[in-house]
Amino acid sequence: MWTKGSLKKAIEEQLGEYLLIVASNREPYIHMHKKGKIIFQRSAGGVVTALDPVMKACSGLWIAHGSGDADKKTVDKHDRLQVPPDDPKYTLHRIWLTKEEEDGYYYGFSNEALWPLSHISYTRPHFEETDWKMYEKVNRKFADAILKEVGDRKAFVWIQDYHMALLPKFLKEAGCNNIITAHFWHIPWPNPEVFRICPKKKEILEGLLANDLLGFHIRYHCENFIATVEKEIEARVDRERFSIIKGGHETLIRAFPIGVDYEYVAELSESKEIKEDMQGLKEEFLINHDFVMLGLDRIDYTKGIPERLRAIDRFLEKYPEYKGKFVFIQMGRLSRIHIPAYKDLNDEINALVEEINWKHSQEGWQPILFVRRHLSYPEVIAFYKLANICIVSPLHDGMNLVAKEYVATRTDNTGVLVLSQFTGSARELQHEAIMINPYDTEDCADRIKEAISMDKAEAKRRMQKMREQVSRNNIYRWAGKILAELLRFEFKE
Ligand code: G6P
Repeated sequence: MWTKGSLKKAIEEQLGEYLLIVASNREPYIHMHKKGKIIFQRSAGGVVTALDPVMKACSGLWIAHGSGDADKKTVDKHDRLQVPPDDPKYTLHRIWLTKEEEDGYYYGFSNEALWPLSHISYTRPHFEETDWKMYEKVNRKFADAILKEVGDRKAFVWIQDYHMALLPKFLKEAGCNNIITAHFWHIPWPNPEVFRICPKKKEILEGLLANDLLGFHIRYHCENFIATVEKEIEARVDRERFSIIKGGHETLIRAFPIGVDYEYVAELSESKEIKEDMQGLKEEFLINHDFVMLGLDRIDYTKGIPERLRAIDRFLEKYPEYKGKFVFIQMGRLSRIHIPAYKDLNDEINALVEEINWKHSQEGWQPILFVRRHLSYPEVIAFYKLANICIVSPLHDGMNLVAKEYVATRTDNTGVLVLSQFTGSARELQHEAIMINPYDTEDCADRIKEAISMDKAEAKRRMQKMREQVSRNNIYRWAGKILAELLRFEFKE
């Protein structure tokens, strides 16, 4: 099994003189002012959850947008600092963006155009020329910072996600044959019929094809990407090698299903700190129900949160005997709130929670508890531990690490996972999780009932199998596989 240690060893042996640089929009640690003090938080979201443990193991350099209001106060004169701030393991280099750049590049082209374009959740993408210009400008800013860091050394630049589609091209255009790039696209790649509406499709594809390796979570997204390239630009597809050749340059296309730091999560969830947090949360939120179901998401329209709430409403209508004994806890960090679709979603969720709680409440009991305050990572783990059921109901999701994280915390093999068939993680967990189609409210209500009433021995058998899968395909294996593919070393299981 791959571990922190084996990844570290592989990197030391294989990376040699190559500098390891990760580039992403979201920074792993963010500093902010709170009550006259400067505090830091680890950022939420799949990219940070996945890459922070990898970087801790191999101490490279991470370049990202410094978005916290106290970020500038905590860097040195080269805009760098060591992170995690309380236990330094690697270097973070922060890039500063103007408000105008953040608006156009992050809110605009990344999250109002590429995000809805890549997820089939029926939210229409918006394309604005001014947003595109900012997207280009910021990608160039990242390229300049990386080139400066690299100098005339050799570097392996590991680019993350849809915010950086032009970065590989800008790096390679600078004439750097000392830089190799791998790009991991953490969200789905849509089919060609969907992608063809993007006015900048050619530029995006050409940007990505400057990479030496382009990774997606599942084979289906690789196939969609190749089909898109075949339809949209002049390039040769090598089916044998599963690669694309454009202008004499080859990009390998590969599926690498991402995982979590299983060992760390499992160990943490057994700790005394978590037991105390569980007790604290029970008291703070008055949790003493027989059946506790949990949802944990960034508030995003791809996550199927209103669909989940409607299913709970229907479940209580159909099975009123659970009233008083059941609670659904939704945790969620507000996200991208300057975008109208996110603001509307937040309003919709608030209204639904209010309406469903009012409809079913009795004798001081309410079915839904919406936790709005910030939770530390140990508190998140404590919530996972308190939940007999975890529901993950996205309308479309590249992987979804909440599903895997929940499984990793269930060290006593209890707990049931209810999982949308439209997530990448469904490919690995579909036989043991209870599968749902979040668009089918009636069926979801019945599947919640099935989860609640599942026989203990059956639940245990299923959880054990899921734990085996999640522990084997952990985050170190994911990183090791990408490095092995790129640096052409033999990947040993
Ligand atoms: C998804 C994306 C990540 C992103 C995360 C959080 O997981 O793939 O790139 O960082 O959401 O979203 P945010 O916009 O807050 O960074």
